[in-house]
Amino acid sequence: MNWTEHFARRVGYIKPSTIREILKLTQKSDIISFAGGLPAPYLFPVERLKEASVQVLEKQGSQALQYGTTEGYTPLREWVSSRIPNTTVDNVQIVSGSQQALDLIAKVLLNPGDKVLVTAPTYMGALRAFDAYEVDYVMVDVDDKGMIPASLELALKQKPKMIYAIPNFDNPTGITMSLERRQMLVEMAKKYNVPIYEDDPYGELRFEGEALPSLYQLAPELVIYAGTFSKIVVPGFRLGWLVAEPELLIVVARAKQAADLHTATFIQMIAYEISKDGFMDGQITKVRAYYKNQRDLMLKALEKNFPEDCHWTRPKGGMFLWVTLPKGLDSIKMLMQAVEHKVAYVPGEPFFAKGGGENTFRLSYSIATPEQIDEGMNSLGKVIREQTKVEELV
Ligand SMILES: Cc1ncc(COP(=O)(O)O)c(C=O)c1O
Repeated sequence: MNWTEHFARRVGYIKPSTIREILKLTQKSDIISFAGGLPAPYLFPVERLKEASVQVLEKQGSQALQYGTTEGYTPLREWVSSRIPNTTVDNVQIVSGSQQALDLIAKVLLNPGDKVLVTAPTYMGALRAFDAYEVDYVMVDVDDKGMIPASLELALKQKPKMIYAIPNFDNPTGITMSLERRQMLVEMAKKYNVPIYEDDPYGELRFEGEALPSLYQLAPELVIYAGTFSKIVVPGFRLGWLVAEPELLIVVARAKQAADLHTATFIQMIAYEISKDGFMDGQITKVRAYYKNQRDLMLKALEKNFPEDCHWTRPKGGMFLWVTLPKGLDSIKMLMQAVEHKVAYVPGEPFFAKGGGENTFRLSYSIATPEQIDEGMNSLGKVIREQTKVEELV
């Protein structure tokens, strides 16, 4: 069978990734990789999950192993709702990882040719989820406070169908949107009548400063909020939640039913078991302290090893920071050099919906050991200096 001639038109929108090919090289064991965004496995509460699994099976075994409702396990939905002011269980849809929420919302809201407003750069996984619905993008520039108002207004004039935002500890930049910018964003969204998708996988991972109100809290009528257990408990659960007005969620539930009937009941019940008794709060405290230390180590190593004309973000939470190299350096070209020096990162360009960011890259500080951070930043600093010399000679 020649499958290519049988593909649906949308396959043309699902682009192959050259970066993925390069990054495959980084999976060799002798390479120190800051490329992946994997949560630190040392934080997985294996013993508590083992205990909770047994508790669920003993107390509610047949319910846990049976088909469940598409909206999700009600006590878990109630728990999510109890953590988000002014919501009820009817505002909560359980999803199979917050990645599924991106797909479901795109399926329900976006027609081919619609424009999605995204920051430049943004989460690659969101772009790939939206791509399959044959959409186009408008990009908004960001600074260290989030979306720049003038750029946002220009983008809104192009009539996007939806705004996609990651206000807390953005992937890939680590930037947190300031309160003023949050207020400005919801005001502009209201003015132009555009819904906002607020993706918040990292919100609980705040290392410093006061938590800011979510966009959803500021304007629940126009915001769709997505959260996840991936970064605070384990990503392998594939468990997240969507919070929005019931009128929208009813349609989302229909789309989800067609996709996977419902999220695994057993997993939802285990998650509820560890959430209801306060264990989760202790877990979040532990996770935060761990990543804060990782961030501090990375910032110190950057300060020590990187040339002065490089810039990087100082995230107040989350798992990533974003490096800007001097103009003229190309982080894709440089990756091959870096891999030769046994160190890897993700080049910035693929995080841009419509190109750009050639001199940028993302670093994840989530799983490296202190020694690897030190050694890795030392090697990368050398690679940058070498590349700078090469560019000067050209
Ligand atoms: C911004 C963002 N959104 C969504 C996801 C998907 O997370 P999950 O499906 O594990 O909940 C990720 C994962 O890295 C992410 O960084």
